[in-house]
Amino acid sequence: MHSTGSNLAEIPPKPAVGLPLWLLAELTYRCPLQCPYCSNPLDFAAQGKELTTEEWFSVLRQGREMGAAQLGFSGGEPLVRQDLAELIGEARRLGYYTNLITSGIGLTEQKIRAFKDAGLDHIQISFQASDAQVNNMLAGSKKAFDQKLEMARMVKAHGYPMVLNFVTHRHNIDSIDRIIELCVALEADFVELATCQFYGWAQLNRVGLLPTREQLERAERITNEYRARLAAEGKPVKLIFVTPDYYEERPKACMKGWGSMFLTITPDGTALPCHGARQLPVAFPNVRDHSLHHIWYDSFGFNRFRGYEWMPEPCRSCDEKEKDFGGCRCQAFMLTGDASNTDPVCGKSPRHDIILKAREEAGTATAGIGQLTFRNERNSRLFTKKG
Ligand code: FES
Repeated sequence: MHSTGSNLAEIPPKPAVGLPLWLLAELTYRCPLQCPYCSNPLDFAAQGKELTTEEWFSVLRQGREMGAAQLGFSGGEPLVRQDLAELIGEARRLGYYTNLITSGIGLTEQKIRAFKDAGLDHIQISFQASDAQVNNMLAGSKKAFDQKLEMARMVKAHGYPMVLNFVTHRHNIDSIDRIIELCVALEADFVELATCQFYGWAQLNRVGLLPTREQLERAERITNEYRARLAAEGKPVKLIFVTPDYYEERPKACMKGWGSMFLTITPDGTALPCHGARQLPVAFPNVRDHSLHHIWYDSFGFNRFRGYEWMPEPCRSCDEKEKDFGGCRCQAFMLTGDASNTDPVCGKSPRHDIILKAREEAGTATAGIGQLTFRNERNSRLFTKKG
């Protein structure tokens, strides 16, 4: 909570700014997999030195003092950090609800036990497909699938709900029935069937990943049929189907509004209002240089798209602006070159034609998995800005 002391340096927050309730700790960009739909920045290999354990402790403490309640550990692959159990333990002591977002690669029973002892509340494991061949091809690893199955079972055996995340796209969405069958066989509790959103590596590979409308509609219909059948059979698997922005007519309220409740800290300590913001031509502060309080309330980057003053038309006079905030700033930037434009997903955007064209391209795309650009250090170096 904010100090009410007399220190003039502590400027009281503007009333319109909410609390950073959701803190995402991207512990590392290192990852044993190479998923071509990863949302990490293309130039991840050139990012600065990772925060130390002590630096993360400080971030967690400051976040909690400012009202953060939910904490996600992600990456890259957060299991790569040798201090993960320590970080979980500190988060628990501070009173966070903690969630580990992992590929399951590098997880062992011993680690699950250590995380449980440290107080971890929740584990989410991501899969690439329902069968070993496609999964391993997408992950860029021969052993990924078996390891994930084993770890998903192990997580459940240790008393956690089984929460699985399948990223779907044109190469696996037609197997949605097999994906759901696998989840049922694993006795999953929650399954997110999330059609790939297009940031980072996914945006780079968009033409090769975006499903067609027919694929998407079929997958949603099958998911609905399974929901009804599973409910009738008394099987409590909760299926969450996420459609991609590219088939919507109104944009999503990305992050529930810029700088309204979501705070990401990247591996080198750069603070962002969302996972995609690093690519924007906006200066973002670093926790090594500034307090989290300053970053959240006073930094230029976090105030850049707060409120409604920054909006151009058609958002400015739109009666839905308080619902969707003009959509996603990163998507507006990626697709139009200007982050303050209306998200082209919106049917009212003067650049909605970009989305219509992408849908058309999806209908005619023929690229196979082998033609996707995989997320790895070698490819990342090709995107490193010179100078
Ligand atoms: Fe950055 Fe949507 S991902 S505003």
